[in-house]
Amino acid sequence: MSKTFPKGFLWGGAVAANQCEGGYNEDGKGLSTQDIAPKGIFGPLTKEPTKDNMKLIGIDFYHRYKEDVKLFSEMGFKTFRTSIAWSRIFPNGDDKAPNEKGLQFYDDLFDECRKYGIEPLVTISHYETPLALSKNYDGWVNRKLIGFFENYVRTIFARYKDKVKYWLTFNEINSVLHQPYMSGGIFTDKEKLTKQDLYQAIHHELVASALAVKIGHEIMPKAQVGCMILGVPNYPLTPNPSDVLEAMKQDRENLYFADVQVRGVYPKYMDRYFKSNNVKIHMEPGDEAILKNTVDFVSFSYYMSSCATVDPEKKQASTGNIISGVANPYLQASEWGWQIDPQGLRYILNLLYDRYQKPLFIVENGLGAVDKLVVDENGNKTVIDDYRIKYLNDHLLQVGEAIEDGVEVMGYTTWGCIDLVSASTAELRKRYGFIYVDRNDDGTGTLNRYKKKSFNWYKEVIASNGKNLI
Ligand code: BG6
Repeated sequence: MSKTFPKGFLWGGAVAANQCEGGYNEDGKGLSTQDIAPKGIFGPLTKEPTKDNMKLIGIDFYHRYKEDVKLFSEMGFKTFRTSIAWSRIFPNGDDKAPNEKGLQFYDDLFDECRKYGIEPLVTISHYETPLALSKNYDGWVNRKLIGFFENYVRTIFARYKDKVKYWLTFNEINSVLHQPYMSGGIFTDKEKLTKQDLYQAIHHELVASALAVKIGHEIMPKAQVGCMILGVPNYPLTPNPSDVLEAMKQDRENLYFADVQVRGVYPKYMDRYFKSNNVKIHMEPGDEAILKNTVDFVSFSYYMSSCATVDPEKKQASTGNIISGVANPYLQASEWGWQIDPQGLRYILNLLYDRYQKPLFIVENGLGAVDKLVVDENGNKTVIDDYRIKYLNDHLLQVGEAIEDGVEVMGYTTWGCIDLVSASTAELRKRYGFIYVDRNDDGTGTLNRYKKKSFNWYKEVIASNGKNLI
């Protein structure tokens, strides 16, 4: 079953600064929220960075990016998604002047990509708020963050305007509902955080995102700025109308972010939610006008779908990607309990396109698995990751189906195209890459890179523009 992908389709891979760069305190970088979270999203925080925090060294991309970009180019990447670590540019977030060495690093990285004809796709904020903004201001709860963010985006847009054409504002902006610290830099304990503060923080992020679109268009008329949501479609667990409505409700919890970013106004259904939860969004004069700066495209991550039900007895929670829901009896799960659902990708592509009629970009998809390094018949170290090939192949076939359904898809970047530290559990043994990195959770390893079997497979997918998918 071969599928036709459009000409110019942006094939590539994705990473985030905090999960791969390392060099957490080099060349003037300030600490970020990640540097005191050695156990990942749901784990406890430490007072200072501690040695067991795998992200402090990551995969040493900060020093080895040239070797890595060369490997991406060997696979034929058209695009490479990474993020800028805000605290490399503004170490405390509220500094007056940017850190030149931080700016230089991304100049070099983007130049290296362009050298091979790889288009950088850059996330402005990917779970790495400067720690000082989190501790001193409570992150996005404080309206001042909009000003600090504006400074940051003006700086990076002006600096990289000739090197970066595709930008994303906040990674998985809806994840703040579940992980206020990592996603929104909110230092207040999740349990103590009021809904009022949470939704006010979200409002600040939405205004800041729209402001970034506005400034982006002013500084770089040819650039495209997109939003990025964590995409988990919710299926009703049963045909019980109450389950159907529950699924709609859960979808809206996520989609309201994109609704604002694409349509430029709050959706009506949020009025009822705010009213029944006693939330009053404080809008400053001008906020509504700023929100009208809508995004050029919609990007999202997709790993799994979920089920919704109102029946407390059936709520047998499945573990999952930040948002955990009810297990689907028709699906199997990964080693980390994430339910594998390739058709769900076709479903969400159609859902988002029907809703927005904007170009869509799948900027994360992939399988986190334990890999075994072996020696092949030529004496090279490799990983025979047929499971990863199958996962990606099956999802890409569904992208092809969605394209045939009429959905406009700009591109596809697999998550963790090179092994990196996981976000939820901060482990390295949860590997996503086409490239194996020799580093283990106990800190051992040479940091050498090895091509997995999927490396050549993806190279073929790109070279054939998806025609070799089966
Ligand atoms: C997404 C994040 O939620 O999922 C990434 O944007 C993350 O940062 C990815 O790494 C996969 O999650 P995990 O926990 O397996 O790393």
